[in-house]
Amino acid sequence: MDIAIMGYGTVGSGTVTVLNRNRELIASDGGEVIRVKTILDLRDFPGDPYEDKIVHDFEVILKDPTIQVVAETMGGLHPAFEYISQLLEAGKSVVTSNKDLVAAYGEELLEIAASSGVDFYYEACVGGGIPVIRMINECMIQERITEISAILNGTTNYILTEMEDEGTSFQEALEDAQELGYAERNPESDVEAMDPARKLAILSTHAYCIDVDWEKIERRGITKITTEDIEIAKAMDFHIKLIARSKMIGPRLFAGVEPIMLHEDHPLARVEGVYNGITIKGNMLDDITIYGKGAGSLPTGSAVAADIICAVMNKVRGVTKTSYHQYKPIKPESFSSLGQEYMIRTDRKVSLPLEDIVSEISLEGDIHAYFTKALKTQELRDLFHRLQYRGVKVLSCLVVEAEEPQD
Ligand code: HSE
Repeated sequence: MDIAIMGYGTVGSGTVTVLNRNRELIASDGGEVIRVKTILDLRDFPGDPYEDKIVHDFEVILKDPTIQVVAETMGGLHPAFEYISQLLEAGKSVVTSNKDLVAAYGEELLEIAASSGVDFYYEACVGGGIPVIRMINECMIQERITEISAILNGTTNYILTEMEDEGTSFQEALEDAQELGYAERNPESDVEAMDPARKLAILSTHAYCIDVDWEKIERRGITKITTEDIEIAKAMDFHIKLIARSKMIGPRLFAGVEPIMLHEDHPLARVEGVYNGITIKGNMLDDITIYGKGAGSLPTGSAVAADIICAVMNKVRGVTKTSYHQYKPIKPESFSSLGQEYMIRTDRKVSLPLEDIVSEISLEGDIHAYFTKALKTQELRDLFHRLQYRGVKVLSCLVVEAEEPQD
């Protein structure tokens, strides 16, 4: 079957490479030869083996009746949304790696796909090469999923790992990541946690069958993490990770993205560099953790290729697996309202005992840090006020996740 790719950048070219290198395997497995007939891009690629497939006009793909499946790897909201809508309406199945688009317009596009009797897949949008959406939809269909906790952003995980391994500041680690091509020139979406909030919203929608607006998910990025915070974490066998988490308690959804201190026994504590890790709790299965490359040309291209193959096989069989459900919108609440333990770093020594502080973290030099007991939002505020009253300033405050209380 002929297919088209829209966008011949990092992910688009990775997809073409996966389909090409594993061509025989894919044909023998799916029984269908997949040919990349057309590639849409604004640029020309002289000398590229697929040079002659490049077109600059979207209509070429839209009007080609032999192209039944299209992969969108251009990124951005527009014109991606308009292109995909038109392709779906024209009876072509579409797969995409565009998480911004799926977080913003996923519901609309699923509705168009379902009413047109075609597929709309987006496995590559979350966790790069990790097949997490298919795992939730197919392998965990028997489970009531209650909780997700995940590292969903490779760039920030790379920066935090660098800060921990090399003792560099956030700014230095960011610049390294930019030089290596891991971080964008404008890194806001990653370091301010919009990217993992979008991915968390996509996963939560699938896991809990609810409608959650990613913009309503409380988020805090990693820009304020200092070398002192990293030093405290290391001294206590913790790792600071940007964790995206959500949890259903009855009809209530709790969700958030923030840097959290994870004890080294935590399954996500050792997820390093650009890797992603995702822990999902099912009511029968309990916890399952998957781990793999969360970004990059071939891992993400591999997820796009998997979607292409599924869409092609469905077309060949004359079936569609995409359905549309209008889920109930739920406004996410903050985890802080549930009560959590914290590490607080202060500008001077706090004279103990003090209600709510369970232990002092013993460190060399002029760093003062403490573990608190589990506190709810107002209790944490009260502690800050009590410290302020004693002339103590809180310099940082991070949620702590450990199996055992700290002592
Ligand atoms: N900027 C994203 C990340 C790319 O760092 O994880 C993959 O979605």
